[in-house]
Amino acid sequence: MKTEIKGRILGYDDEGHGPALVFVHGFPFDRTVWQPQVAALRGSHRVITVDLRGFGESPAGGGPGSMHRFAEDVHDLLRELQTPRVVLVGHSMGGYVALAFAHYFPEELRGLVLVGTQAGPDSEAGAAGRRATIEKVRAGGVRVVTEAMAPKMVAPASQARMLDQVQGLMATATPAGVIGALEAMAGRADSRPALATIEAPTLVITGAEDGVILPAESRMIAEAIEGARLETLPNAGHLVAFEQADEFNRVLNSWMERLGL
Ligand code: MLT
Repeated sequence: MKTEIKGRILGYDDEGHGPALVFVHGFPFDRTVWQPQVAALRGSHRVITVDLRGFGESPAGGGPGSMHRFAEDVHDLLRELQTPRVVLVGHSMGGYVALAFAHYFPEELRGLVLVGTQAGPDSEAGAAGRRATIEKVRAGGVRVVTEAMAPKMVAPASQARMLDQVQGLMATATPAGVIGALEAMAGRADSRPALATIEAPTLVITGAEDGVILPAESRMIAEAIEGARLETLPNAGHLVAFEQADEFNRVLNSWMERLGL
């Protein structure tokens, strides 16, 4: 589905009834990466997935990318869909968006689920690397990113089996979207000081074999947010919700059950 809000188009799906869960994808994916969660949860929950600007069915639009803009887009979509407070689930870059959302719109959160993500900003070298990648994408398209990233997304033991699938999940990435997201990630704020102010019940999930964002980052987040629960899933890399979907869904469900959701 698509909707136009304040002159911009956002792709999304909104399925099922019950407590609302909103899923925000990582880089350079789109909302279809959450298909295993949608399938498992739409019988018991309202499940909303959204394409960040420049991915899936959401055009990039103009101007530099920023986490604030991504978070505002999610917020505007939830207003449009008239959702009550939501459980917001963000993977990796989607986790940066979720942390920005928690900062700007804390009253909208019923819960927060941070998956394979980190709270700190890019190092200087990391941001410079993103800027160099932007130039490569301008010159040669998105393959420079997707071909480098796809093999790193899952645990080594899953790579041969899942590589085609993972590449397929990156198929809608466009140069404008990838460049906007790289700008947003390079310029993102340090969310670490704000972690202690998060009041929403929080679940932090990481793949034990995540080599893109190390599990130690999740540990740090879980230690900094009062009452947060940390789950480290075995045999899983960065794309943990897709790679170990059943276990991921089990962990998410049992956490929600404890919250009465
Ligand atoms: C992602 O999976 O969203 C990205 O790898 C995050 C990042 O590059 O910082």
